[in-house]
Amino acid sequence: MEKTNLGSNLFIYPMPVTLLGTKNGEIANFMALGWLTRVNANPPLLAAGVNKAHLTNELVRKNGTFSINYPSANIMEKVDYCGLVSGRKKDKSQLFKVEYGELETAPLIKECALSLECELVDIYEMATNDLFIGQIIASHAAEEILTDGKPDMGKLNPLLLTMPDNHYWSVGEKVGEAWSIGRKLDK
Ligand SMILES: Cc1cc2nc3c(=O)[nH]c(=O)nc-3n(C[C@H](O)[C@H](O)[C@H](O)COP(=O)(O)O)c2cc1C
Repeated sequence: MEKTNLGSNLFIYPMPVTLLGTKNGEIANFMALGWLTRVNANPPLLAAGVNKAHLTNELVRKNGTFSINYPSANIMEKVDYCGLVSGRKKDKSQLFKVEYGELETAPLIKECALSLECELVDIYEMATNDLFIGQIIASHAAEEILTDGKPDMGKLNPLLLTMPDNHYWSVGEKVGEAWSIGRKLDK
């Protein structure tokens, strides 16, 4: 297959679009976050790459906690707004209905059917972004997105992001059973 070199700033794989919630004094602040992944099994750790210039970076460090909220495509405009505008300039706390779980400084978005509460356990500093390592303390899921007690992507309809084309996508069809389909080759 013939290939073209597109340079070093390329990472096309779909990412989740989430809203990272923090507490800014008395109000909640939310930023759009695509650079998020699970990084450890036990304890359950995730990593979020947050630019050093964002208000969110300052607030995660200050509070030592944050939330991860998984929006569906139906609130895409509000999600995009949270990724365009800083809490330093605009109050983003009124965009969503907010509630709290176990942690006092990890605001959860009621309109998101799935939310995680995290405690900051480590920071890996890089040139422009910091990788915040968070331990998942609690997860909250709406009954309607569950199948057999587990989040069902088809029901959640999460928003995905591709860069550098900067598009939002929804999840397609389920195509196979993970940790299972490859067993056919183990003869
Ligand atoms: C879809 C989308 C995904 C984004 N993902 C990230 C990300 O993973 N890391 C990051 O530092 N900024 C990301 N941003 C940019 C921030 O969300 C944006 O700069 C935001 O205004 C920061 O808000 P704050 O200053 O209130 O923290 C993203 C923006 C969009 C639109």
